[in-house]
Amino acid sequence: MGRNKKNVFVTNVKISGIADRGKAVGRDPEGKVYFVSGAVPGDEVTILRLRKKRGVYEGRVEEITQPSPLRREPFCSHFGECGGCKWQNLDYAEQLKQKQQVVADAMRRIAKVDTEVSTILGGQRDREYRNKVEYSFSNKRWFTQAEIDSDTDFQQSPAVGFHSPGAFDKVVDIEKCYLQNDLTNQIRNHLRIASKANGWEFYDARTHEGFLRNIFLRNNRKGDWMLTVCFNHDNNDQHLDVLKELVDNFPQISALYYIINRKHNDSISDQDAIHYYGDKHLVEHLDHVSFKIGPKSFFQTNTYQAEVMYQQVAELAGLTGSEVVYDLYTGIGSIGLYLAKHAKAIVGIEEIPEAIEDAALNMELNSIDNCTFYAGDVKDILSEDFWNTHGKPDVLITDPPRIGMHKDVVDMLLELATPKVVYVSCNPATQARDLALLKEKYDVISLQPIDMFPHTHHIENIALLQLR
Ligand SMILES: C[S@@+](CC[C@H](N)C(=O)[O-])C[C@H]1O[C@@H](n2cnc3c(N)ncnc32)[C@H](O)[C@@H]1O
Repeated sequence: MGRNKKNVFVTNVKISGIADRGKAVGRDPEGKVYFVSGAVPGDEVTILRLRKKRGVYEGRVEEITQPSPLRREPFCSHFGECGGCKWQNLDYAEQLKQKQQVVADAMRRIAKVDTEVSTILGGQRDREYRNKVEYSFSNKRWFTQAEIDSDTDFQQSPAVGFHSPGAFDKVVDIEKCYLQNDLTNQIRNHLRIASKANGWEFYDARTHEGFLRNIFLRNNRKGDWMLTVCFNHDNNDQHLDVLKELVDNFPQISALYYIINRKHNDSISDQDAIHYYGDKHLVEHLDHVSFKIGPKSFFQTNTYQAEVMYQQVAELAGLTGSEVVYDLYTGIGSIGLYLAKHAKAIVGIEEIPEAIEDAALNMELNSIDNCTFYAGDVKDILSEDFWNTHGKPDVLITDPPRIGMHKDVVDMLLELATPKVVYVSCNPATQARDLALLKEKYDVISLQPIDMFPHTHHIENIALLQLR
């Protein structure tokens, strides 16, 4: 990069940790804190100073003056361009150490809790660990930095892969991704070639034109695949040609759905998934429980670590068979069903109605008859009337999305005063925010981080709370 006069470079920045969104944290010799992209803990770097946000500078590595001994060669050729596995260049044991530290820091700074953080449970595999991946189709390919620097006049071309961070309308064209079983690559690459041959246009996120938008691929450990293809419109029934192309070429597809999404955003939770071929569900097992998973339902993305997580939850819940258990944010009833045989009754709440339909099917599939599931927002459903109907819980499990629990839900939990709460979170910062409030009545007994997503900054953490 040219050294523009206005650019401010900061030398001798020592990188010590990891921050949110895959950035590293470092300090300059004066002690100023920087969030830096392109560095790993242990590096000493010169950075180009960018903006200042909430008292902390952001910067980009200009030069690595002393590389960290913890640096590793990334195994993916898309590393650095694709927004995915940002920590592939950092030793895995160090990733775990850093994630554990992120949990400890959030608990100390935000929750003001000094409970010791147990040793993080690392992933059993660091590749092909995801059971679900979504690819986007775009008529604009993301050009790599090397391409831009080469001064060649590249023609714009379509791409299928992942959005580059911050570029909603451009997609990094992925040839090989290591997150899911390799069939994911074969299907995506086949569609790219078939689209070119058939003139199927990729979506333009600026003008909202184009035909193919996204594809969700879900697989189980047995080798069955459920695909959901999202189109912008049916293109005079050409969507049927795309679906047929998939079925004809991939016998591993056991369930195929499609969605015609005319909205300007890609979320599918409010869209109809139309069944086109095969089974309606994908079936996966977590220890003693089988799960039927529909196209729109949440299921833990790392099946291997989900088992580890559910075993931890079961141990912390410590059920004897006589307890009423609430399972908030239950998805397809997953944790509730996993615990059902050790409880008197399970009551689950989840906002996606299709997931609750799956939960009912899963009860039947596992011959379980002591669960009741409700569709709706936890904030609206969990009320005094609700616990008068179902009985106050002896144990409450909560597993909210990244934003954590709504303040009204936290207040409700304080009023409900369940003796034992197991709080599963995929975002230690919002979990710590909620714990800071729950501390009014609860002690934090244990904190157990789990690595569900190797090479990324994502961290799962389970907190056990006991009523004082
Ligand atoms: C992290 S997932 C956990 C699902 C489940 N416990 C599991 O282990 O598979 C969070 C779930 O909460 C649901 N959800 C998000 N916001 C919600 C809300 N306000 N009320 C009820 N459910 C919600 C999502 O649809 C998703 O299924």
